[in-house]
Amino acid sequence: MQKTILITGGAGFIGSHVVRLFVNNYPDYKIVNLDKLTYAGNLANLTDVEHAPNYEFVKGDIVDADFIQELFQKYRFDGVIHLAAESHVDRSIEGPMDFIMTNIVGTGNLLNAARELWNGNYDGKLFYHISTDEVYGSLGETGMFVETTPYDPRSPYSASKASSDHLVRAYFHTYNLPVVISNCSNNYGSHQFPEKLIPLFINNIKNNKPLPVYGKGENIRDWLWVNDHARAIDVIYHSGEIGETYNIGGHNEWKNIDLIKEICKVMDEKLGREPGTSEQLITYVTDRAGHDMRYAIDATKLKQELGWEPSLQFEEGIRNTIDWYLNNEDWLTNVTSGAYQHYYEKQYADR
Ligand code: NAD
Ligand code: TYD
Repeated sequence: MQKTILITGGAGFIGSHVVRLFVNNYPDYKIVNLDKLTYAGNLANLTDVEHAPNYEFVKGDIVDADFIQELFQKYRFDGVIHLAAESHVDRSIEGPMDFIMTNIVGTGNLLNAARELWNGNYDGKLFYHISTDEVYGSLGETGMFVETTPYDPRSPYSASKASSDHLVRAYFHTYNLPVVISNCSNNYGSHQFPEKLIPLFINNIKNNKPLPVYGKGENIRDWLWVNDHARAIDVIYHSGEIGETYNIGGHNEWKNIDLIKEICKVMDEKLGREPGTSEQLITYVTDRAGHDMRYAIDATKLKQELGWEPSLQFEEGIRNTIDWYLNNEDWLTNVTSGAYQHYYEKQYADR
């Protein structure tokens, strides 16, 4: 029997990879992509599936409760994969309210609509909430985040995601709503908006612009290829246990400055520049306020219980990613025109 699945935020970076995977792998599912098309949402991310018979796009805002109720009544979704969010830490420091509205109120609206539609008949139904490892706070030199690590969010972004995770769990415990949550580490890959570290620095190197390294570049992130995140979401959606949380990570920690030097090295090679040329663009700037020192995910539960592992080594993944940005100049030009320029000037002017 056909299932109808709502994917929110499907025009964004990770969402577009999830939409593509579900549309291609599950012809029996009807995939409805709901996205507000903020600066981060771009339908050009999905041109390869836009005419697929099992795909439909709806433009709309998850903060609009009436609209969300009507949408659920119209499509009678069997499942929800919720990725729509304001997602950039620096923007959350600049203006937290959009994060509070979309990430918290928006998630509340979706939970209410699912609860009302399913009305206690939960057979075959699932509300899957996509979250981040940033809810766990900041690690010192040792240790890793496990599913039971206490929440300790420190930025308006991570605090808003933590709030949404708490709401999702509360609807499970209070109303038995069938939910599952995953918390993933930093993603990299194609179609990521160039405000995040990796696409920003690729774009700047290409254009010979300074590379603004926050603080001393000593912060550590655990990087996962976005397609591996999408694969994990597929596995968890189909085999995850109701009420459970799964951590997703790459076992791939990099100090920012080492990662940046690696990108510079590959870019020199790809652009035919003398080795060491791009590194000269590195510029140390004022640190991010409340900058989390280290994130690292222990994804043992996901591996042991559901058999998921990352498929791609970082050295190969970063080369593929750089190739994608260099070969998709139109995409980059398109997303970096207009409002992006204004954001960039404001964000980096006083650093
Ligand atoms: P993104 O910013 O690239 O995309 C977010 C999408 O949500 C955009 O298409 C945007 O238009 C849409 N959106 C924003 N506000 C909306 C609203 N009010 N109504 C409807 N749509 C709205 O984000 P991303 O990096 O793809 O992240 C997707 C999800 O994964 C987020 O929930 C994020 O917290 C989580 N996550 C991201 C990472 C990462 O490294 N990027 C890591 C772990 C978890
Ligand atoms: P980012 O891609 O914004 O992801 P997050 O903050 O969610 O981990 O940043 C990754 C790391 O790179 C983080 O430690 C901040 C740092 N960074 C810079 O040094 N310079 C920059 O211009 C940006 C955007 C990030």
